[in-house]
Amino acid sequence: MAVGVFDSGLGGLTVLDAVQKRLPDVPFVYFADSAHAPYGVRDADDIYELTTAAVQRLWDAGCDLVILACNTASAAALRRMQENFIPRDKRVLGVFVPLIEALTERNWGDNSPPREVAVKHVALFATPATVRSRAFQRELAFRAIGVDVEAQACGGVVDAIEEGDTILAEALVRSHVDALLRKMPEPDAAILGCTHYPLMEETFQDALGQGVRVYSQANLVAESLADYLGRHPAMIGPGTEGGFLTTGDPRKVSDRATQFLRRQVTFTAA
Ligand code: DGL
Repeated sequence: MAVGVFDSGLGGLTVLDAVQKRLPDVPFVYFADSAHAPYGVRDADDIYELTTAAVQRLWDAGCDLVILACNTASAAALRRMQENFIPRDKRVLGVFVPLIEALTERNWGDNSPPREVAVKHVALFATPATVRSRAFQRELAFRAIGVDVEAQACGGVVDAIEEGDTILAEALVRSHVDALLRKMPEPDAAILGCTHYPLMEETFQDALGQGVRVYSQANLVAESLADYLGRHPAMIGPGTEGGFLTTGDPRKVSDRATQFLRRQVTFTAA
């Protein structure tokens, strides 16, 4: 019984950490497509090809259920995968919907018509591909009315995090927050719409000010996965071993992952 967690690189570790804490008995196989990160500057076809190859690898590792712990893949590839790629006995879940349900005060799977919600001005920070896809605005429009969204494509932040250059990542986050605040001076909520960004959450919060509620995905995804597995226990696949796979250099990726998670993490070649 194993569940797959996929990201282009290290960002999905923020989600992995939360799901492991929430479901300590489930083995998770984490796949980092480090050789091809970042995805956020790629086009939708490219993201689709890379994401389907990674998901296939996780299915081969015995994970019938795969979490795309990557907003860019969820935004640019998931719908097409659901239409063309995923067989009946497998599942791939994205990370967008749990976040939007939290923002719009909904319970899991509440598909009632859109209604007014408390937040009115939402700042969205995400990769260029996620911003371009408008997937966040689309999902939000199904659930809420009267919410003004201002999106900021945060070029460079994922590269800096993958390279372990926290000083550069911090400087970039501050300049992207400044750019957003020039377009929307008083957001009431901010969405970290890339799983790498919680690694810089303190900087986002500091630059936005304490009055802005910052939403990030890890705990929300963990809750919705626990709920999903409670209702679909058969979706825990036949794999019995957890582990960490990467298409990049396993030593380098392990060092960075160990630094971020503050515990020993050992990747092997995918
Ligand atoms: N962590 C990813 C996301 O949530 C991918 C970032 C990237 O590869 O550009 O969007």
